[in-house]
Amino acid sequence: LFTAVELAPRDPILGLNEQFAADTNPQKVNLGVGVYFDENGKLPLLAAVRKAEEALQAEPKARGYLPIDGLPAYDQAVKELVFGKESEPVASGRVATIQALGGTGGLKVGADFLKKLSPDAKVLISNPSWENHRAIFNNAGFEVGTYAYYDAAQRGIDFDALLADLNAAAEKTVVVLHACCHNPTGYDLTPAQWDQVIEVVKARNLTPFLDMAYQGFSQGLAEDGAVVGKFVAAGLEFLVSTSFSKSFSLYGERVGALSVVTASKEEAARVLSQLKIVIRTNYSNPPTHGGAVVAYVLGNPELRALWEQELGEMRTRIKAMRQQLVEGLKAAGVTQDQSFITTQVGMFSYSGLNKDQMVRLRNEFGVYGTDSGRICVAALNSKNVDYVAKAIAQVI
Ligand code: LMR
Repeated sequence: LFTAVELAPRDPILGLNEQFAADTNPQKVNLGVGVYFDENGKLPLLAAVRKAEEALQAEPKARGYLPIDGLPAYDQAVKELVFGKESEPVASGRVATIQALGGTGGLKVGADFLKKLSPDAKVLISNPSWENHRAIFNNAGFEVGTYAYYDAAQRGIDFDALLADLNAAAEKTVVVLHACCHNPTGYDLTPAQWDQVIEVVKARNLTPFLDMAYQGFSQGLAEDGAVVGKFVAAGLEFLVSTSFSKSFSLYGERVGALSVVTASKEEAARVLSQLKIVIRTNYSNPPTHGGAVVAYVLGNPELRALWEQELGEMRTRIKAMRQQLVEGLKAAGVTQDQSFITTQVGMFSYSGLNKDQMVRLRNEFGVYGTDSGRICVAALNSKNVDYVAKAIAQVI
């Protein structure tokens, strides 16, 4: 039965974890996957999460099936966080939100739903994009192309080319846009550029699918989420996948969501009924724990404030690490300007290193980043940053 099965290549991001785990280099540093580690190199258990877990544990509950679309309190909390409690789409009930298995799960449910709705549509992702975007939409049956994004020569976004590509897209093309903290480049559109993108999306009747996995890691929760408000204000219907993996440090709990902004409450109910079919035929319904923790924190003013404070601390520490990496590279003898590292935002720096250099970093120094040259600056700390800087200096 399985004789013809081919060995698939390792996943370009999570596959690095396997290689890292097997590496015996005592100085190894994992800058591959997008995970935040604290100053001591530890994956944090946020105090807000611990306190919510203690409170939930104080009144243990049996674990029945959740509704197909997830814990109602969680879905409501997501809506309020992503769109605003008082926002018109939430107040009028025209947003359909489902609890998903992480941001990836939200993208997959959305992709399967869109494939049924617009079977002939194409999907455009940024060039480059998170490696899994192409795979998710391909596996949902879509042809996936790219729109221009990163310009290596000017270390930034080629905005004219981006607009030209969106303008050339056929009606109903699904355009996957990173709401903030672009993965992998760390370069985000300015608010004025978003306005122009929205104009084109509207004029060309494209289908926007926002991916917001890093809300709070650039400027702050409200600032990073402002793009969603712009799409609402423009009167667009769109999808947003969101994730608490990074912002709650709940990677393994798979807590994300998909929200679909529709034209009316009645339309939202029909969309929700279709999303439920996608979920039911994939994994039936989501798990309880992560959703319960997030809903508890977001619904409790004290814990919510604590969470926002902890998220702010992660954001501030990442920025400090960017600065220390720039300084470390200079001290290690790199003469080329590295200040782009502090211009980029979010968890990643698109280093500009090529695949050979990334392979050398891994093999000779135990410093792991993706082949595309992406490094997770959120995994740097004051003990490993100089080692990483020296290793990078060696391969430049
Ligand atoms: C990443 O880009 O490293 C993260 O989003 C983790 C993942 O699932 O790939």
